[in-house]
Amino acid sequence: MGAVIDLRESWRIGPVEVPTRVVLAPMAGVSVQAFRRQGRRFGAGLVCSEMVSCAGIEHGNERTLGYLRVASDEHPLAIQIFGSEPSVMSEAARMVEAAGADLVDINFGCPVRKVTKTGAGATLLDDGARACEIVAAVAEAVEIPVSVKMRRGLENGSRTCLEVGPRLVEAGAQTLTLHPRSAKQMYTGEADHALTADLVSLVDVPVIASGDITSRARAQTVLATTGAAAVMVGRGAQGNPWALKEILEGDGAEPTQEEVVAELVLFLRETVRELGDRRATGFLKKFYGWYLGRGRFPRTFKQELVRLETVAEVEARLFDAAPGARFVLQRIEAEQPVVEETLLDDMPISIYGGG
Ligand SMILES: Cc1cc2nc3c(=O)[nH]c(=O)nc-3n(C[C@H](O)[C@H](O)[C@H](O)COP(=O)(O)O)c2cc1C
Repeated sequence: MGAVIDLRESWRIGPVEVPTRVVLAPMAGVSVQAFRRQGRRFGAGLVCSEMVSCAGIEHGNERTLGYLRVASDEHPLAIQIFGSEPSVMSEAARMVEAAGADLVDINFGCPVRKVTKTGAGATLLDDGARACEIVAAVAEAVEIPVSVKMRRGLENGSRTCLEVGPRLVEAGAQTLTLHPRSAKQMYTGEADHALTADLVSLVDVPVIASGDITSRARAQTVLATTGAAAVMVGRGAQGNPWALKEILEGDGAEPTQEEVVAELVLFLRETVRELGDRRATGFLKKFYGWYLGRGRFPRTFKQELVRLETVAEVEARLFDAAPGARFVLQRIEAEQPVVEETLLDDMPISIYGGG
């Protein structure tokens, strides 16, 4: 194992300075703005939107455009797009840039059939020529750096990423994130970071290591043994921003019940603001277990919250369970910067394709 790396060191992707070596993973159905802002507050140096359909952007789909909303305290932020047509992807990338993202990330990793059957996501690893065309078209279309996130390949044991990765860099990718599982594996088995080390040795751009980073020790080991520039944390940060702080600083402190409730309530409020009450109600349910589990509250408490009909009722019940959380929340809010959002209305109408 090489020298111990300071996770709080900054690094660069082209002109973009990333203040720490911990990156918050893009996760569909999870990486809303509240999640990303919270990730930044707990020390993630870079956050990423969930994958956004380039076709949805092209068609001006209202829900899709909502994914392009960027708050001033999210930077640096990557917005991830997926699709299979170079021209549509480059149009979408222009919108991403106009929305204020610092990076445009391209998804060559999604293993879900709904996406792969359209020729997007991980399937593109088996069509290196087209993958390169997409990266080249996007890099040509925008000034901001282009990054790519990929899996090891489609089949178990595949090493396709080592063949395609250097070609994607040649086509214009300024960083690669590798989740070294096959698409077939989905989330089973283990991420094989020996492959990450191989990829690092083949390219001269920073590589981000994604997969099973859940502790400070694991983060240090992966950085030291692979030469990756940063680690990416996904499932470990769901309902658990304290994991980011622990990985960065190793403070080991478990949050109090008041802290957990305060963070969850803030998350509820911001998500309602972002998605609207109706969509947020269903969306938020999975977060109750993520926040309140890990031995923080009795299991029955989560079951009770999931049955409540409105987010307002959930909030009231949470404050009943931990009244001191109101003060913790006031403190967090006082420390939060005043947020300015890039509203879609402010974008030049031409990028909507005539609106
Ligand atoms: C619920 C969920 C949704 C995900 N959505 C995306 C996505 O939209 N784009 C992407 O590139 N990866 C996505 N991923 C993969 C993660 O970014 C990450 O690479 C993977 O979970 C491995 O990291 P982990 O072990 O830290 O979770 C998703 C993963 C999960 C669990």
